[in-house]
Formats: sequence, C-alpha cells, structure tokens
Amino acid sequence: MNFHVLTLFPDMVRNGLETSITGRAIEKGLFGLDVVNIRDYTKDKHLHVDDSPYGGGAGMVMQAEPIYRAYEAVKEQISGKHRVIYVTPQGDVFNQQHAKELAEEDDLIFLCGHYEGVDERVLDMIVTDRYSIGDYVLTGGELPAMVMIDCISRLVPGVLHNDDSSVYESFHENLLEYPQYTRPEEFMGRKVPEVLLSGHHANIEKWRREQSLLRTARVRPELLKKAELTKKDRAFLKKEIDGWQDL
Ligand code: ADE
Repeated sequence: MNFHVLTLFPDMVRNGLETSITGRAIEKGLFGLDVVNIRDYTKDKHLHVDDSPYGGGAGMVMQAEPIYRAYEAVKEQISGKHRVIYVTPQGDVFNQQHAKELAEEDDLIFLCGHYEGVDERVLDMIVTDRYSIGDYVLTGGELPAMVMIDCISRLVPGVLHNDDSSVYESFHENLLEYPQYTRPEEFMGRKVPEVLLSGHHANIEKWRREQSLLRTARVRPELLKKAELTKKDRAFLKKEIDGWQDL
C-alpha cells in the first residue's frame, strides 16, 4: 500500500511519519510514503501557491493549478484505482471502520489544505472522499493526514509486531480496551488486580471482558448500542451500572 501526501509542509509530514512504528514499517517496505511539495508544481515565478478569495474576505486561498499538477504527477506513478482524500473539518468524521475500508486500497492520495481553504474547482475535479478528524479546527491538513495514515497503516499486515494487537483493543467490536498492567506487582502501594496473576485464563478473559464493558458503559455508552452483547454481558451491566438500560 502507498500513501501519497500533497502538502506545503513536506518536512512536517516526513518527520512525523518516519518516526517510531510507522518509520520502521516504511524502512521495511511494508508501506510506501511519497510526500509531494505542492510548491514544486507552481508556475508562478515567485513560487506563490495562494491568492486572495474572489468576493473578498480575510485570508488566502490555495490555488487550483499547483494542486492539480501535483496530483497529475502522482497519478502518473500509480497504475490502478486510487482514492483522493481531502482532510477538512467539513468531511465525515473519521473512525476505525473507515480506517478498515481505506486499508484495502492500494494507493491513497491525501490533500492537505492551508490558509482559508482550497479553490473548490480542484476539489471537485480530483477529490473522492472528505474526512475530518474531529469537531475542532486545526491550522492545516498535515496533522489530520498523519493521524489517518498512522491509523490506516497499523492495519497493514506486519506493521505491528504482534498482529493480534490491532484486533484486541479499543473499538474492536465497539468496546473500549480493558486496563493493562506490567511489572512491578505493586507500585506506590497499588497492586495489580489479583486475577491477572492467577494464570487462570478463563477468569482473566472474563475479567477483561467485564472491564471493557464497564469502561464502555461509563465513558462511551452510545458504543454499546453497536456492540454484540451476550446474555452474560447484559446481566453483568444490569448488575454493575445503576440505571443501565438494556439497549
Ligand atoms: N483541517 C483543519 N482542521 C481539521 C480537522 N479537524 N479535520 C480534518 N482536517 C482539518
């Protein structure tokens, strides 16, 4: 799988993604990262890539042409189907299910906007999907693109050391992850829950399931509506959570 990022701040994207787990995965060739500087595609002699908005108003708008030319250059390198994602607060709010679907693609092209926006014509021409990473406004699209690439790439086989760990964690089956502990057994008077030291696998599984249910019910109750709950799960929640309504 290859990620292509069209940006005015290539160093920011490279420095972010060529670090830690994603960096190691890129080095191993598990996925490709192609960062394209939109400014390299301007025909303006002063290398401008933005201009003031028609109709007036504050700020600058990124021009269509350099973005279109950068996109064409990327398209020449890829053979098949691809998607072009514009990261914007006006998109669908990105979630784990979207990540799963996008991880099936061979090539994803991210367009990072800046200033007051991007000329709508180039968006209409090239963009297939618009995603937001949440209901808040950032200064540019680089961080959202990096967030999405981090999330999608860890679903690519081999990127995580232990392939199980992308499955058994928060948002798997719409339940939040259970709490984790490691050595020492006691830290500043706080002990690791006894059951985890017991070696009794069935009891450990049961405890973890219950902890996931409790956390989800307390912090993100709306997720439980989408979770597949067993009779035992429902009975447990009824007993533990005051006023818990069977959904
Ligand atoms: N650009 C600025 N803010 C954003 C957000 N929350 N999500 C995606 N792109 C953005």
